[in-house]
Amino acid sequence: MRWSCAKLAMEAMEAAGKSRGATKASVSVSVSVSVMGREYPADSFTNTSERILGHVNRNLHLHLQPRHPLSLVRAAILDHLNGGAVHQHQHQHQPTFAVFERLHPVVSVEQNFDSLLIGPGHPSRAPADCFYVNERFLLRAHATAHQADLVRSGLDNFIVVGDVYRRDEIDATHYPVFHQMDALRSQTKEQLFPDQSDLNIFERDYKPIAYKLKDYCASEEQLALQKTCIESAKQPCHTLEAVKVMEYQLKHALIGMVKHLFGENIDYRWVDAYFPFTQPSWELEVFYNDKWMEVLGCGIVRNEILLEAGSTNAIAYAFGLGLERLAMALYNIPDIRLFWSRDSGFLSQFESEDPGRILKYKPVSVYPQCINDLSFWLPNRLTKDQFSNNDFYDLVRDIGGDIIEQVRLKDTFIHPKTERTSLCFSIVYRHMERTLTQAEVNRLHKKIEESAASTLNVTIR
Ligand code: DAH
Repeated sequence: MRWSCAKLAMEAMEAAGKSRGATKASVSVSVSVSVMGREYPADSFTNTSERILGHVNRNLHLHLQPRHPLSLVRAAILDHLNGGAVHQHQHQHQPTFAVFERLHPVVSVEQNFDSLLIGPGHPSRAPADCFYVNERFLLRAHATAHQADLVRSGLDNFIVVGDVYRRDEIDATHYPVFHQMDALRSQTKEQLFPDQSDLNIFERDYKPIAYKLKDYCASEEQLALQKTCIESAKQPCHTLEAVKVMEYQLKHALIGMVKHLFGENIDYRWVDAYFPFTQPSWELEVFYNDKWMEVLGCGIVRNEILLEAGSTNAIAYAFGLGLERLAMALYNIPDIRLFWSRDSGFLSQFESEDPGRILKYKPVSVYPQCINDLSFWLPNRLTKDQFSNNDFYDLVRDIGGDIIEQVRLKDTFIHPKTERTSLCFSIVYRHMERTLTQAEVNRLHKKIEESAASTLNVTIR
C-alpha cells in the first residue's frame, strides 16, 4: 500500500498541503540531533522525538541479541540463504551473500529515496510518515536505503539487516521501530547463461544513458519509461529470457525460505506488486493462522539504479522483508511491543538452541486494558485530511511510551454551524507486565490532553 497508490496519495497530499516541510511534529526545538555518536544540525524539518532517539541510541540491535525472537528468525533465514543448496539451477549454486547488520540508521534523503527512483513528490517522503533528522537526513525508512551504496562499493550479492523507522498508526502490529532484511543478487550474462553464449541479458538496441539519478527520477523521461515498464511487464532494456530466469531463481529462493520457516506444506501465493525501484515486482503471501499474510516484496532491480551505482553489465533481483511480522506469525507473539520487553517471562521462552525449531509463545499473563477517549476541536478551518494523525500518535507515544497499546480514530464530527471539525480518539492503555491503576491512566491521559492542546493547537472538548 505504501507504494502502489502512490499517484492518488500524492494528489491527496498536495491537496491537503502536506508536501515536504508543511507538517510539524510535536518536538521541542534543539540545535542539534545526536544519533549513535553522530551530530546533525537541527532545522525546520527535524521531527525526531526524544522518544524515538531514545530507541536508536539504546542501540539494542535486537536482531543480534542471542535468544531474542528476531535474532532467531534472522538466523534461520541467513542460515537458509547462505547455507547452500538454495538453487542448484543449471550449474549454479546460490552464492554467499555478504551480510551487513550494523549500518548506521541515519541515511541521506538521496540514499533512502533518490537512489531508488522514489521521486521528489512521492508520498513516502512526507514528514508525516518519516523521522527526519533534518532536511537532508532521516532515520532510514527501509533497509533498501543501502542498496545503491553497496552496489557502488563493488558487491554483487549482499544482505542488509537493520532497524527501520516509520511514523505510523498505533496498534498491536505497528511500532515506530521495526527490523527489515533486504537483499540483492546480481549476475552478468556469463553467470546467468554460462553455457549459452547466444543468450543475452540486455536487448540488442539497448543503450545505457548517463543519468544524474536525482534529476532523472522526477524527469518526464523516467516517468514515461516507468509507464512503459509497467505496461510491458518488464524493463525495455532486459531480454525476456534474462527476466524469466531471474524470476525463476528469485521465486525459488524465496519459496525455499518460507518453507524453511513455516514448513514444507505452507500455502503461498504470488501477487503482482509495484515498487519504484523494481520492475516487475511481486509480493509473497503465505496462508497462516487462517489468513493470507504478506511476507515480503521483491522484483527485478530497475537498471537505472545499477547504472548510477556503476554496475553496467548485470541484472539483479532484490527483496525485502520485515522480521517482526514473521516472528509474530511463527511464534504466535500477539503484540509487537513484546519485542522490546526485558521481561524474563518473555525472553526465557526463546532460549532454544535450535533457531529453526518453531515454538509458540505462551502469554506470561494478560493484564487488563484501560480505554479512555479523547475528543478535540481542530484549529479553525482545518479539515480532518489536513490534520496529521501521525503527529497525534507520536505525541501519545512520547508521553505514554509502551503503555499505549492502541490509538484509533473513533469518530469525526463537523459542527453544522461553526463548521469546525472534532475528532475523537480511543486510547487503549495496557502494561505488558503489570496491572495499571485507573488513577495513573487518568494522569497520563490528562498529560496527553494538555500536550495536544499546546503543541497541536487543538481545543479539548
Ligand atoms: N523496501 C520495501 C518496503 O520497505 C520492500 C522491498 C520491496 C525491498 C522490493 C526490496 C524490493 O529490496 O526489491 O516496503
